[in-house]
Amino acid sequence: MNSKLKPKKLNRIAVLCSGGDSPGMNCAIRAVVRTAVGHGLKVYGIQKGYAGLLENNIRELFASSVGNILQHGGTVLQTSRSTEFRTPEGRKKAAAILKKHKIDALVVIGGDGSYNGAMALHKEHNISVMGIPGTIDNDISGTDYTIGFDTAVFNAVEAVDKIRDTANSHARTFIVEVMGRKSPAIALKVGICTGAENVVLPTEKINFKKIAGDIDRGIKRGKTSSIIIAAEGEVSGIGYTIQKNLKEKFKVDAHVCILGHIQRGGNPTPTDRLIASQMGSQAVSSLIDGHIAGATVFLNGKVSISPLIDCLRKKNEFDVSEVELLTALSI
Ligand code: F6P
Repeated sequence: MNSKLKPKKLNRIAVLCSGGDSPGMNCAIRAVVRTAVGHGLKVYGIQKGYAGLLENNIRELFASSVGNILQHGGTVLQTSRSTEFRTPEGRKKAAAILKKHKIDALVVIGGDGSYNGAMALHKEHNISVMGIPGTIDNDISGTDYTIGFDTAVFNAVEAVDKIRDTANSHARTFIVEVMGRKSPAIALKVGICTGAENVVLPTEKINFKKIAGDIDRGIKRGKTSSIIIAAEGEVSGIGYTIQKNLKEKFKVDAHVCILGHIQRGGNPTPTDRLIASQMGSQAVSSLIDGHIAGATVFLNGKVSISPLIDCLRKKNEFDVSEVELLTALSI
């Protein structure tokens, strides 16, 4: 399905963030606003995502409204996960509010859930939508990158380096739980970048015997610590399950550290700032070009535009060669 029709005159666009915040969202908002203003469009910011849209929490934004925000994590527009917007009635109400404000197109910065909402709004109410992938999980299909991933990995790597210092000093094993729900992306990259002995991915069955064996082998060859990086899965706390199994089945003592939301905060890295700025600008020029249901994507090192429908699926696959690399280097 092509997301492009013949260009239609755009006058007003709106932008919102939805789902978990991710560092770099502010850069994308700034780029959307300034590109739109630069093309003579009126641009509106919707506060608190789809929930805010349903509360008519909308205000006009100007070039000056987005000054001094690109270096900050989080989102100045705030975000939410709205259950009401998941219903056809909720979307009908949202569409009426957008129409009342004469908004021709909605830019949605978020993950796959936010994209599904945008697609439904487009199909049911013929409102033009444009997705910008914003989630630390890097798990949206059709794009190699989602805004916030690099910063989240950076934050986690910094934390694990600190844990390694104390683990070495006490000759300890640590299980460090990272974010990413069912996405293996953060765990795998953090594992490679911190020299972890093992990575537990949400897509794989946990092999406790192998983990215990690797720890033992490491101790025998003189390692002074072991780090296991575990992706949290659907609910945080997998670290404690691993700890319990290692203790009960293999008499291995391990400490657990759940990094949690510190991974999602803090100043975005230059990579996130750059890609978010490019995507924000691309989103607006694509709407002006006539795309009615698109999403910005990062493929082969470049930002481009794709039909939104190609990006609706959650992507949980990973590169097996990265697991092989981690295994080969942690002997
Ligand atoms: O989807 C982004 C994400 O940060 C996941 O990595 C994590 O599992 C989830 O959000 C946490 O959600 P919340 O902030 O609502 O607890």
